[in-house]
Amino acid sequence: MQTTITLNNEIKIPQVGLGVFRATDSEAQTAVTWALETGYRHIDTAKIYGNEAGVGRAIADSRIPREEIFITTKLWTEDIRQKHVKAAFEKSLTALHTNYINLYLIHWPAAGFADAWQVMEELYQQGKIRAIGVSNFHTHHLEELAKVQTIKPAVNQIESHPYFSNQKLIEDCQTAGIPIEVWSPLGGKAAMPLVDPVIVALAEKYQRTPAQIIIRWHMQRGVIVLPKSVHRERIISNFNVFDFQLTPEDMQSINALNRNQRVGSDPDHFDF
Ligand code: A2P
Repeated sequence: MQTTITLNNEIKIPQVGLGVFRATDSEAQTAVTWALETGYRHIDTAKIYGNEAGVGRAIADSRIPREEIFITTKLWTEDIRQKHVKAAFEKSLTALHTNYINLYLIHWPAAGFADAWQVMEELYQQGKIRAIGVSNFHTHHLEELAKVQTIKPAVNQIESHPYFSNQKLIEDCQTAGIPIEVWSPLGGKAAMPLVDPVIVALAEKYQRTPAQIIIRWHMQRGVIVLPKSVHRERIISNFNVFDFQLTPEDMQSINALNRNQRVGSDPDHFDF
């Protein structure tokens, strides 16, 4: 059974979603088609990925009722800087062939994010977005946002995988009532944790794939997890994670793999 997490505005989000970063428009279309066939009901894209249209075509072609699918997309930094929030949002809606977004995120904490947030709050109040959140925010960005927000971010989507657990930020957000979503959950493009001996041994033990072990680790940490793949077999197996559990000891042995080794940018040093 697919698990869901309840966001701080009572909206439910499926805990495992398909990520489509680095997928072309047509790759995203086929990946989303396969994912929906598999049972995924949560797709995570972004304007900057350049594949919202492919995601939108796959959703439309699936004939699955729109209200059964959770779509996330993200506001790009250039649109924050140029104060084009509404126009960027409308473009994403058009590309995705939909009239509302389930979750709209500030992609990176670019200068001007507090102003952008206020516009997102308006779109939320108008019902065009079901939940608004942020991505790649450190605690100090969340504190800055808190000075202007009237709505608390529904999520913070951040990098996390066994080599960069990001545990402190996860716990700080969870304590503050901000659920966490994780990107590059398998370790990103190179996916190095998939061949880590500890992960491989656990895969043997549970008779699962290394990716399933890592996805399950994230789930048991209580985070929303967005594994990316454009391969059908992987999309299917990455979703086959609802019928087993890692022991607390095995969770600990994955926690111990942390090396504070990011695969993406540090939000404090992102080149905007
Ligand atoms: P591909 O799309 O070619 O399958 P992330 O950590 O960002 O989710 O990325 C995981 C990377 O590992 C992707 O580049 C993806 O590439 C690959 N991948 C996804 N699922 C699996 C899997 N089950 N086994 C091996 N590699 C995977």
